[in-house]
Amino acid sequence: MDAYRKDFPAINQSINDNKLVYLDSAASSQMPTSVIDEVARYQMNDHANVHRGIHTLSHRATMVYEKTRQDLSDFINAKNTNEIIFTSGTTESINLVAQSYCRPKLNKNKKILISHLEHHSNIVPWQIVCEQTQSSLEIAPINNKGEIITEDLISMIDESVVLISISHVSNALGSVSEVKKIIQAAHKNGVPVLVDGAQSIPHIKVDVEELNADFYVFSGHKMHAPTGTGILYGKEDLLEKMPPYKSGGDMILEVKFTGTTYNDLPYKFEAGTPNISGIAGLGAAVGYLRKIGMINIESHEKNLLDYMSSELKNVDGINLIGNADNKIGVQSFTLENIHSHDIGTILDHQGVAIRTGHHCAMPVMEFFGISGTARASLALYNNKEDIDCLVAGLHKVNEVFS
Ligand code: ALA
Repeated sequence: MDAYRKDFPAINQSINDNKLVYLDSAASSQMPTSVIDEVARYQMNDHANVHRGIHTLSHRATMVYEKTRQDLSDFINAKNTNEIIFTSGTTESINLVAQSYCRPKLNKNKKILISHLEHHSNIVPWQIVCEQTQSSLEIAPINNKGEIITEDLISMIDESVVLISISHVSNALGSVSEVKKIIQAAHKNGVPVLVDGAQSIPHIKVDVEELNADFYVFSGHKMHAPTGTGILYGKEDLLEKMPPYKSGGDMILEVKFTGTTYNDLPYKFEAGTPNISGIAGLGAAVGYLRKIGMINIESHEKNLLDYMSSELKNVDGINLIGNADNKIGVQSFTLENIHSHDIGTILDHQGVAIRTGHHCAMPVMEFFGISGTARASLALYNNKEDIDCLVAGLHKVNEVFS
């Protein structure tokens, strides 16, 4: 896998006179040259608006845009491209489902079910829609390892639940949820499930048909694509029945002052001029991941996470937070009596980039009785040397504070 490092210009640089060690891919991942080049190629040669022009550039832009939709459909094994909606990211995808699918179905006798492990994007849109409809938001518990207690979540499912929304992988702890089991139990009760795949999509093979997820959402920038791109996958029969979320150009077939007829899927949900260059880059990112192979990425990162978790145990005063039996990509930790922001700052002086704080998952921090953690997160371009630099950096943090 080390051969792929050279594809990422951003990780091949120095920070504060040290080689950059980038361990913050869960927040945002770096882009390979093929993605950066495709965005530039598109901008230099093909840019025009999509679905609107009769001229050659508009045709080319539309081809690039729709090819990415096909690539994504193949990548996650959707039934067809009508099931792939372009959004600005995971957050917008969840808001879309909250307002378009759930809001019309919610009332004071209905519920949305999420877990204690969720990040804010999978909490706040539900709080808002529940407030708008006087419905309730139920929270399935987690255990001390940082895993959703699947049996407890399943026992909370009944006919009053309109939707279950859970992360495939926790951004703060890396815990992999038992999504397939949860989906099966939900479907027995006729309840659909949204899976937040923001932290799974760059790390493991996702097959929406095999999972039988009703909605699956993710962001481009966590999978080596530009920011401001993302996907809502939805089963076609559900999307068909949902009203538009945003309105404006391109989501219509006919507009009269007496009324508007909406466009077909997937365009019904894509109002306004989209992030076409970003989506060109997203297509290139999918091509890049497929070329390497998700199985190779998963096994590389699994080995690296095992190595990281075991090496971190050699650091004085460390407390690893999140010890799920099945986890990927992330290790959170605290150092005794040292604030996570101090850890992050001293590491940055040594060129090591990690995220510190609550990771947009305050309820998870509250569960562990802490204000935040230091979090090192992995991507396909990391190697053992990066972990060694992190560990050496943490020894230095301890030295500074001793
Ligand atoms: N959700 C992003 C993270 O985990 C921002 O860092």
